[in-house]
Amino acid sequence: MQLLKYIQAQGFGSRKQCQWLIDNDCIEINGEIRNRAKDDINPAEVSSLVVDGEAVVAVPMPYFYILLNKPADYETSHKPQHYPSVFSLFPDHMRNIEMQAVGRLDADTTGVLLITNDGQFNHRVTSPKHKVAKLYHVTLKHAAEQSLCDTLKNGVLLHDDNETVRATEAVLENPHTLLMTITEGKYHQVKRMVAAAGNRVEHLHRDRFGDWDTQNLAAGEWKFIDIS
Ligand code: URA
Repeated sequence: MQLLKYIQAQGFGSRKQCQWLIDNDCIEINGEIRNRAKDDINPAEVSSLVVDGEAVVAVPMPYFYILLNKPADYETSHKPQHYPSVFSLFPDHMRNIEMQAVGRLDADTTGVLLITNDGQFNHRVTSPKHKVAKLYHVTLKHAAEQSLCDTLKNGVLLHDDNETVRATEAVLENPHTLLMTITEGKYHQVKRMVAAAGNRVEHLHRDRFGDWDTQNLAAGEWKFIDIS
């Protein structure tokens, strides 16, 4: 990939702006100033990137996969209405790079959120056909008994949805804490299922999405992951 294309793809502005950065010795890759726009860059070999004197995150190209431990009060949207966007948690230049969340978490839901620029991957893992397991840690308003788990596993009819949905796993950790796994990603699915089963979600945290968990990331922290 040409240096100019690489710097543009990293979100450092228009072709003209990136050309200026290159011409003015503002791009340092792996400790070396790179000032020839047509030089070939192998993104996989970039271990450090400094732009205009500032060490910045080098985003893997052409595809990248991010695991974010979503904090509460952030919206999974590029056009948030009430809270800041989850995309505002990334450094400035990354906000110029096209990326999408893999499914959505409600503003008040915390935990594992994947973000990628790989549309095929996104489609694959969010499609109900592929039955990717999502594990939620649910704090319940009312003390629950085993019967709640049975109801969720047997299936509940969601209001306005005319379709029965089931939890593939549901285990009570204590009367107010439920661990629940689902394989679809319908709108407010966990909250609606718990409501349909006669309880109420006080707080929701996604512990795991497929093979990925928050891996000791604090709320708001993120990292690139390898999906192979
Ligand atoms: N189910 C919900 O109700 N909310 C979420 O954020 C995710 C799953």
